This record gives sequence, structure tokens and C-alpha cells, in this order.
Amino acid sequence: MHESKIERIAVIGLGKLGSPIAACLAAAGYTVVGVDTDPAKVEAINAGHAPVNETDLEATISRSEGRLTATTEIDRAVEQADATLIMVPTPSDPDGRFSLKFVLAAIRATGRALRTRRGYHLVSICSTVMPGATGGEIREALELTSGQRVGETLGLCYSPEFIALGSVIRDYLNPDMVLIGESDPCAGAALESIYRTVCHNEPSVQRMSFVNAELTKIAVNSYITTKITFANMIGGICQNLPGADVDVVTGALGCDSRIGRKYLKGAVGYGGPCFPRDNVALARAAELAASGADLARSVDQTNRAEVRRLADLVRTHLTDSQHTVGVLGLSYKPHTEVIEQSQGLLLTQALAGDGVPVIAHDPAALANARAVMADDIRFAETLEECLAAADVLVITTPWPQYTQITNAMLAGAGRHRKLIDCWRCVEDVALRESADYIAIGVGPREATVDIDVHVNATSLQVA
Ligand SMILES: NC(=O)c1ccc[n+]([C@@H]2O[C@H](COP(=O)([O-])OP(=O)(O)OC[C@H]3O[C@@H](n4cnc5c(N)ncnc54)[C@H](O)[C@@H]3O)[C@@H](O)[C@H]2O)c1
Repeated sequence: MHESKIERIAVIGLGKLGSPIAACLAAAGYTVVGVDTDPAKVEAINAGHAPVNETDLEATISRSEGRLTATTEIDRAVEQADATLIMVPTPSDPDGRFSLKFVLAAIRATGRALRTRRGYHLVSICSTVMPGATGGEIREALELTSGQRVGETLGLCYSPEFIALGSVIRDYLNPDMVLIGESDPCAGAALESIYRTVCHNEPSVQRMSFVNAELTKIAVNSYITTKITFANMIGGICQNLPGADVDVVTGALGCDSRIGRKYLKGAVGYGGPCFPRDNVALARAAELAASGADLARSVDQTNRAEVRRLADLVRTHLTDSQHTVGVLGLSYKPHTEVIEQSQGLLLTQALAGDGVPVIAHDPAALANARAVMADDIRFAETLEECLAAADVLVITTPWPQYTQITNAMLAGAGRHRKLIDCWRCVEDVALRESADYIAIGVGPREATVDIDVHVNATSLQVA
């Protein structure tokens, strides 16, 4: 096995994943050329600006001290690089599989650029793909277009990231685990050396075959979606059980080291660009492998039903058909403008579909929501505008500004509004104790039992 020193890296795809990772690699000392078909992203990088909204991205680009440039010409970037990392979209097909349309376009262009190149080159796929894809269609396309066999001079890896939008840079630099599916030990070692250089911690590096890595990636996210759905089920039970409180129950559950605290909130269904898709993809992978997909399917169906459950609950608090619901939060989580499969968006659509007047607010996602929502949805530019227009408010995303809503704010303009807090995040004690506050996952107050202390002479008799 020969050692291959990686100094220059091409990053194909400068989106939500690619641009922060390109910046981290350059900040760590690699010479990085980013490639995107979108000239606006290329221009942003070359001007030292963040092409997407991500925490610390602009600062990380500036720490790269000129080692990060970008181009729309993939061949120029790949020809000069020792490694090519592919981070293009893999949209879901109608049957739940990840489409390879963009990955294969990028791989073919990479392969063509490698035709005349001498010396070792590593190609790594970071985009999420189905089990069997890297060793199948991807490898075939790379070998066909490059005219080289994967092995001696051409390494191939599959290395997806476990990052969350809003903390992509922190997560990339401090991973729990680095997952590497490798064509051979040389390819895996070359990629591992990049992570060892860039990461601020000493992550567990899990190296394995392509298919095991492909399955691991979607299994990790599907395990988390199952955990979220389980906690939501506990929340649903608590909601109807006098005296029960999901935070108390899941707080104790999380203390068991076999379970752990993370993703055990018991609030709304999961959303975003990864969890729903990865869960459905695992179910599809199970079916394609002629294995049972019941658990993954059930998690998906339960999660899809969450929004109907919430919409029905909201409607029980509307005392007039003209009453307006204010949906607080359209992004799938705080600190991002991404709205894909967000519960706020789905709730807004469900209520509007029921004919309920809705006004929606979000600190960051209004523009994205406007682009996909029907014309009959109203949007509030400010939280105050939403509070003023709504009769019943629902916190669907726990943005920090929503935790600061007070009893006084709800009681303004001479009327009381109800607040349904899906995350139990409001801090104002007076509001939490008022009759206008409904916490999801908290049961009705326990009925006070009137103990009848009627004592009669016979009951005092000792037998
Ligand atoms: N965003 C996440 O949180 C996240 C997390 C883990 C994994 N992933 C996976 O990473 C991959 C990328 O996700 P993303 O969120 O960064 O997508 P994105 O849509 O934000 O960015 C993809 C970029 O690739 C560019 N592109 C498409 N085809 C190209 C080509 N042939 N050459 C050059 N550029 C091209 C697009 O213009 C776009 O800028 C997906 O497979 C996704 O499932 C994403």
C-alpha cells in the first residue's frame, strides 16, 4: 500500500454542505477549488462571501487566507487536485430511493477530467446514496469516463456527513464518528488523513465496505427518527393523562445510558431535508433487500400523522369559525431558513386546507415559505403583528424570540389569546400558569380528590 499525500482538493457542489466543508478544508491548510453549476455561489466564494446562510461560514472562508477559490469548470478543478469530494444533491425519487442524477453527472465530469491525469487521485462521495450505489453505478461511471480501474491509482470512497444545518461547521470539525466506505485501504487511509488533519477532536473513524457505510448512514438517521417518534408517542400519552408531564418522563428516560437524552423531547414530528428522506430510504432499502420494512414505514406514517393530530387539537381551541390561528415557526428547527417538511409549514397548510384563517411568522424562513405557500396564507413580518392578528397561537419551532412571549403580550389589545406551546419553551411563569397556556405533552391538572372524612361509629370498631 502506498501513501498518497493529499494537498489540493476539489469540492463539487457548494451548497449547504459543500461550501462550509470547502471552507473548513481551506482553513485547515488545504488548497481547495470549489465547483458549482450555479455562478452566484462561485462568485460569492471568490468574493470571500458565504454562498449559503450557515453559522461561522464567512469567518471560516476568511480564515482560509486565499486557499479557497471557486469555478464553474469542473475539469479545471479536478485536473489540478489530488482528491475530489462530491457534495451535490440526491433528491428522493417517488419510491423513496435517492436519485443519482446529479451525482452521476458530477462523477462523469470528474472521470473525464482524470483521463489524462498522472498520479494518485481520490474521489469521495459525500452525498447520501442508496446501498449498492457507490460500488455499482458510481464506480462504473467513474471507471468508464476516466479510463482507469478503481484501485492502484484511483481511490473511491463513500463518506457521508452527520451534520445539522445551523451547526455544519461545528459538527464537521467535531464529529462523534467519521464514516468511510472504501474501495481499498489506500483510499480509506487517504480520506482518513484529511479528517485527522481537519477535525478538532479525535473522532472514532469507522472504515468499512461501501455497502456497509451506505446502510450505516441511513440507519443512523432512521434510528434518530424512531427515537423522536417514540418520544412523541410518550408526549401523546401524557397529553391525555391527568397529572402527566412528558418532560419529567423523558428526562428520566434519558438518564438511562442505554437510551440517552438527545432527541427525546416529545414535541412535534421531525422534518428537514434529511430525516424524513433517510427514513423512507431505509424502508425502501429494506424492501429492495426483501427484508421487513415495517418499523421504518410505521415511523414514517406516525410522523406524517403528527401534523393532523396537532391541527385537530388546535381546532378544538377555536371558539369561533372566524378565529385566526397564528403559526409561530416555519423553519424545521431554529437558526435556519430551511422549511422542507417543517411542522410549521405542514400545520399551516393543514389548517388552511380545513378553511381556518392562518397567519404565520418566522424570524428567518418567511421568504422561503412565501415561495411555496398558497396565496390565502397571510404572513406576519413581526412577532407582534402575528400576536395582534391571532386568536390562538401555536409555537411550532422553538426560536429564542418565542420563548420570550409573556402573559402581558398575549393579553394585549383587550382580549386574551390562547397559546399552544409544542416545545414547552415559553419562560414566563405567569403565562405558563394561566388558563390561556396549553403545553403539548402535559396532561390535564390532576383532579383534586375530595376525601370524604365522614366517620361513623362502625368503621371505628376494631374487629
Ligand atoms: N444539508 C444537510 O443537512 C445534509 C446533511 C447530510 C447529508 N446531506 C447530503 O449532502 C448532499 C448535498 O446536500 P446539500 O444540502 O448541500 O444540497 P444543496 O442543494 O444545498 O447543494 C448542492 C449544490 O450542488 C450544486 N450542483 C448540482 N449539480 C452539480 C454539478 N454537476 N456540478 C457542480 N455543482 C452541482 C448545486 O448547484 C448546489 O449548489 C445531499 O445528498 C444531501 O442528502 C445534506
